[in-house]
Amino acid sequence: MSTRKPLIAANWKMYKTPAQSKEFVAAFLPLVHGHTRDEIVLCPPFVDIVAVVATTHGSKIHVGGQNMHWQEEGAFTGEISAGMLAAAGCTHVILGHSERRQLFGETDDTVNQKLHNALKHKLVPIVCVGELLAERGAGKTEEVLLRQVARALVNVAPDLARHIVIAYEPVWAIGTGKTATPEMAAEAHLIIRSQVARSLGREIADNMRILYGGSVKPENATTLLNQPEIDGALVGGASLDAQSFAKIVQYTLF
Ligand code: PGA
Repeated sequence: MSTRKPLIAANWKMYKTPAQSKEFVAAFLPLVHGHTRDEIVLCPPFVDIVAVVATTHGSKIHVGGQNMHWQEEGAFTGEISAGMLAAAGCTHVILGHSERRQLFGETDDTVNQKLHNALKHKLVPIVCVGELLAERGAGKTEEVLLRQVARALVNVAPDLARHIVIAYEPVWAIGTGKTATPEMAAEAHLIIRSQVARSLGREIADNMRILYGGSVKPENATTLLNQPEIDGALVGGASLDAQSFAKIVQYTLF
C-alpha cells in the first residue's frame, strides 16, 4: 500500500471571475467538509486567488497558481512571481502545463528554472508532462516523457525534491473527452517514476506523487484513481462545477 497521499487539483484555466470563484467555494466547501483522504487544491486565475484564499480559510483546501515566472521580480510585464503567489496564500503552483508549452512558448528549460524558484518559495510544484498524439503515434511517448522529466529536474537538490508533484497529461486527452486507459496511464507513470529515480534517487521516486490529467470526470475518476500508480488527478473542465469536482474528490477507493 502506497503512503503517497492522493492529490486532486482543479485547474480552472481562464474561467471564473472573483465573484464566480466565491460562489464555487461556497457550494464546494459543504460538499467536501471533513474529507481528509485526499489533498485538495484549487488553481484559479491569478485575479481570483485572494478571494479563493479568503473563502477557503480554515478549511483543508489549498490554493495554487496556474503558472509563474522564474525570476524573483523585475520588468516582466504581465508576469507573476513565486513570492507573490506565496504571499497571496498559495501553497502550490502548476508548471509546464501543455497549454503553456504549446501556446505560450514554455520550454523544458523554463519549466526547470520555474521549478527552482517555486521550491525556493516553498510552493509545491505540480510539473506537467505529456506526449502529443503524433508523438504517441510515432512510438515516442517514452522518449518524450523521459526528456521532459529529466530536463525539469536538472540540478534540483534531492532534499528539496520531496515536495515535487508530477502530472502526466497526455496532450491528446486534454479537453477532448478522451482519456488514457488506466493501463496507458499506469505505463506512463512507471516511465516517469523510473526517470525520477535516475534523477533524484529511488527513495524520492517511490514517494513522489504522480497525478493523471486529461478529461478526468466523475464517471471515470474511480477507475483511474484506483490504479496503484496514479496518485491523484489534475482536473480541468470537470473542476469548474462544484458538484462535479466534489464527486471526483469523493471517488470510491477499492
Ligand atoms: P481537462 O483538462 O480535464 O479539461 O481535460 C486537464 C488539464 O488541462 O489539466
